[in-house]
Amino acid sequence: MAQNRETFGSHFAVIMAMAGSAIGLGNIWRFPTLVGQYGGAAFVLLYLVFSFLLALPIFYCEAIIGRRSRANAFGAFRKLDPKGHWHWLGLITVVAPLLILSYYNVVGGWSAQYLFKSLAGDFVGREEALVTGYFGQFISSAWAPLLVHAIFAGAVALIVVSGVKSGIEKFTKWTMPMLFVLILVIVVYSVCLPGAGAGVSYLVRPDLSKLSGSAVASAMGQAFFSLSLGMGTILTYSSYMKRQDNIAGTGFSTALADMLFALLAAFAVMPAVFAGGLEPGSGPGLIFESLPLIFNRMGAGLPLVSTVVAILFFFSVLMAALTSAISLLEVGVAYMSEETRLSRKQSTWLLSGLVWLLGIVWSLSFGPLADVQVFGMSLFDAIDYTCSNILMPIGGLVFVLFVGWKMPAPDVYDEYTNGGTLRFNSRIYPAFRFLVRYIAPVGIALVALTPYLF
Ligand code: PHE
Repeated sequence: MAQNRETFGSHFAVIMAMAGSAIGLGNIWRFPTLVGQYGGAAFVLLYLVFSFLLALPIFYCEAIIGRRSRANAFGAFRKLDPKGHWHWLGLITVVAPLLILSYYNVVGGWSAQYLFKSLAGDFVGREEALVTGYFGQFISSAWAPLLVHAIFAGAVALIVVSGVKSGIEKFTKWTMPMLFVLILVIVVYSVCLPGAGAGVSYLVRPDLSKLSGSAVASAMGQAFFSLSLGMGTILTYSSYMKRQDNIAGTGFSTALADMLFALLAAFAVMPAVFAGGLEPGSGPGLIFESLPLIFNRMGAGLPLVSTVVAILFFFSVLMAALTSAISLLEVGVAYMSEETRLSRKQSTWLLSGLVWLLGIVWSLSFGPLADVQVFGMSLFDAIDYTCSNILMPIGGLVFVLFVGWKMPAPDVYDEYTNGGTLRFNSRIYPAFRFLVRYIAPVGIALVALTPYLF
């Protein structure tokens, strides 16, 4: 068991690392995709409500468990409750992020491919149908997706091998602000396209008739996915937090930044989808079809500017994906290097290798394995659905139930208020406690079960 655990260098570094984990493909790729599949504004609204009511409490619980125990997602439960069996439940939250990583790497590879394409100037000055149709052609080819998948997975392993401070922290500090500025530029351009109005109203006028049970569960799954919850990620990162950091404040700022990014991504993508006559429900390729369309149209007037914007955009998407992917791998690596005899380096390469192998299946499910269906879903959709709509809610329940009902109340209070020194946190503590004990567990269970009840 590691004696001198690393901690993050500063409070700023903590927020950046958490935001780096939260903001990623979940916001830029997954959110617009689901909004398109589940009918727009009503889904967005549910996502926002679930983020505050059900996701934020889990964030706080993970942070409390992590910082209190200063251990990995498995060891934390053993330290805080040595006689109980909670650590076996903790193990779910060690395995699940590795499953997520296995398909996250695939989409990370796609972003790398799109960066290479924009570097080659391939999205500017072409026929529109070629630019939007490229995704379908790329994804069904046998080798190209596997190659970029391997490159992305290798990069993730390399960063995690170099450790929390030198690897993760340095990396996350400067990429987020750039992404924010670029997305803003793209939103402005996108909503000004002729025909974009339909996309904007799709995002702001709720059509409740489109809300199926699985849309409701998916909105919660997306809130969890986007904030990196129920997976031991926030727990693990919080175990590197300092005593004086403010858990409630950090959680709230991370959540706000994360939601803002998701909304911006939707407002960048949807107006362009409508302006270009694309199909909003077309699935995982949506942003890879609509964004090149934006760059291509922009390029009609300003070819050089448009090429540069495209390059910078896909570069920052890639960075955002990397900072989330490393947080997914870190959960397993922290577990393995602290609970087994393997070193940090060995754990990283072993887990990365396994995750990469599994990822090959998900990547091929768009090409040679496209006909394989599970419960009417492609293999890729099935693993994504299982992780975010089943495993994440289970993980989230484990954390809120442990903090709400198992941990001694004075310990919870101590972590949430830093020993009573944070006045505002002490004042809202009763509300927090109520949320964690009653609203969150009941809410999570109910929402997760909607698709089976209705
Ligand atoms: N939150 C990340 C994203 O939005 C994905 C993620 C999920 C990371 C779970 C860690 C844990 O891209």
